[in-house]
Amino acid sequence: MSAVPAIKPAVGFDVERIRADFPILAEKVHGKPLVFLDSGASAQKPRAVIDAMTRMYEKTYANVHRGIYHLSQAATDEFEKAREAVARFIGTPDGREIVFTRNATEAINLVAYSWGTHFLKPGDEVLISHLEHHANLVPWQLLRDRHGIVLKVAPIDDSGALDWEEFLRLAGPRTKLVAMAHVSNTLGTVLPVADIIRVAHERGAKVLIDGSQAVQHMPVDVKTLDADFYVFTGHKLYGPTGIGVLYAKAELLEAMPPWQGGGDMILSVTFDKTEFNDIPHKFEAGTPAFVEAAGLRAAIEYVEGIGIDAIAAHEHDLLAYATERLKSINSLRIIGEAEGKAGVISFVLGGIHPHDIGTILDREGIAVRVGQHCAHPVMDRFGVPATVRVSFGLYNTRAEVDALCAGLQRVREIFG
Ligand code: ALA
Repeated sequence: MSAVPAIKPAVGFDVERIRADFPILAEKVHGKPLVFLDSGASAQKPRAVIDAMTRMYEKTYANVHRGIYHLSQAATDEFEKAREAVARFIGTPDGREIVFTRNATEAINLVAYSWGTHFLKPGDEVLISHLEHHANLVPWQLLRDRHGIVLKVAPIDDSGALDWEEFLRLAGPRTKLVAMAHVSNTLGTVLPVADIIRVAHERGAKVLIDGSQAVQHMPVDVKTLDADFYVFTGHKLYGPTGIGVLYAKAELLEAMPPWQGGGDMILSVTFDKTEFNDIPHKFEAGTPAFVEAAGLRAAIEYVEGIGIDAIAAHEHDLLAYATERLKSINSLRIIGEAEGKAGVISFVLGGIHPHDIGTILDREGIAVRVGQHCAHPVMDRFGVPATVRVSFGLYNTRAEVDALCAGLQRVREIFG
């Protein structure tokens, strides 16, 4: 198996300058400076994204793909430029391979309904991992119950890493799709997606990668990976809510039937028959989230301007610092310590319920996610009802990690 890519040092990464780009970071919560450590749930937005969306509403707003007048054409142009930006960002030269969806969840459901129903037969196997977010689990259960596919689960070890030997054993001749996260939202594990894809292809399976927790943290090149499907969401990438991305190889999209019908996905319609539009529009029924697409483009350009390698190095430093500091807190147990993790730390603290910890931290202005993180099987695997999860973004600092640790000491004082 190849190792996780080496992180280059963050030369010239100026976190204070970056923080000034995010208006919300100047807010106070309960009278305390906001310490936002929940970017894994949704990242904050830089001024560039907010401005791009406002600019569109103020200057170039009209429905796309429908008008011959100037504003509609300007909006269409912006929408299609956003598609090109997404394509460039994840390494495909072909914008037809980018389908805009509502979020990553919808992108996975699209693949399950369209490709899954059409190309899988009852008894065919879909192989996921034990660390999947519910978004990459429930759609396959629905397909199983509707269509008779078999859902298999590759286990993870005690560190939260994929059990490679078991994966090799489970990826058999009946496996037709391997659907796995690039990065675990709960544990921070980075899966060896290049090796997963290589093995799956050798065994005749297609691969879907859920990159919702990856594209904002590390370089992703879908062509080098040779992914068949790669999905992610805009709002975790510093972009707006309501916009997600399905990348799929053009030949797959061409062969897949539409999954939702309506305007924009058609070329001609009579009461007898509909001729569908070309890809990717065939999969974009109804008015799309084109203002959000413009916001996503601004987010991508913002990230590209800083450099994804520099972001990765900064977050790697935060992760190493936070891991060391958290481990020095008495009775704190980190859940998930796979080698080469991304900037996510889940933990429990003695017998104190994570909801109590989250509530006390909130009074200190510190935002963390507590609960099961839309990954109930991960909680079961580690025998915990819930965890506290810290997830870093490019704007976090070591001082915020110090604030978190001080907040946790306060929790310990309160609970004795
Ligand atoms: N999927 C998001 C998270 O992990 C909401 O928090």
